[in-house]
Amino acid sequence: MSLEMKDMSKLLETAIVSARLAGQKAMEQMEYAKTSVKYGCELVTDVDSKCQKLIIDRIKEAYPDHGFIGEEGSEGKIFKQAPRGDENIWWVVDPIDGTNNYAHHMPQFCVCIGVLYQNEPVVGVIFDPATDSMFTACKGNDAQLNGRKITVNEDGIDEFSSVSICSHIETPLPNWAIELISQTRYRNYGTAGLHFAYVANGGLAATVHSKVKLWDIAAGTIIAQSAGAIVTDLNGEKIFPFDIASYQGEALQAVASNPKINSELLALVQL
Ligand code: IPD
Ligand code: CA
Repeated sequence: MSLEMKDMSKLLETAIVSARLAGQKAMEQMEYAKTSVKYGCELVTDVDSKCQKLIIDRIKEAYPDHGFIGEEGSEGKIFKQAPRGDENIWWVVDPIDGTNNYAHHMPQFCVCIGVLYQNEPVVGVIFDPATDSMFTACKGNDAQLNGRKITVNEDGIDEFSSVSICSHIETPLPNWAIELISQTRYRNYGTAGLHFAYVANGGLAATVHSKVKLWDIAAGTIIAQSAGAIVTDLNGEKIFPFDIASYQGEALQAVASNPKINSELLALVQL
């Protein structure tokens, strides 16, 4: 059975409403958020889980039987509820992507909500509440920013192009990171979701992540791909279809780039 356009439109609408609710709540609460260490060097705030609950409760009103994966579970674990019906549909939720920024009262964060159908992203929403930017996509259609079509840029890898790299890079710094830092106007906004969104709207030529989680990239992948980007792991292998039923929050690699630089970038990443 395949999803029809009207089904995807309803999924998208639900994702948009939920993302807006959570984003507004996060903005209202930023000043009062209570921060703690989740594990290692990862911070979390009380608002992360409040926003996730808001999102999942809202989605469940429309789709009580769908599956859910969220970053915030109890005791630092992930939140996971398998689909109850026959439909293999999962909502993949990051209530605040960019928690470290958020915990430091910097409003560069976003809400990421992706929907996976038969292990492939079919709907994605990334909402940046500080700039009221709603990035959306559903499979087979154009990616949009606030209702207007967006596309990747045609930049090369050079001193004029912006390429973002992730914040979790191993030490010593790998050669690919050194090359990207020295060959481009490299960026890190502290949120993988916005990195993908900026590839989609032609801001960044590419983004490279050596350690992300599924909720950081599920929405971003369909949005970036719908805008013309190529999304793979660092070896150029497809990330999706993804075995979501067995996923427990393991780190993933992800590269999204405009098609023009994709092979050059992947070769550079192998350095
Ligand atoms: C993090 C951000 C960051 C990325 C990390 C993520 P969080 O998400 O997306 O940019 O480098 O891998 O964990 O923890 O702020 O939701
Ligand atoms: Ca998060």
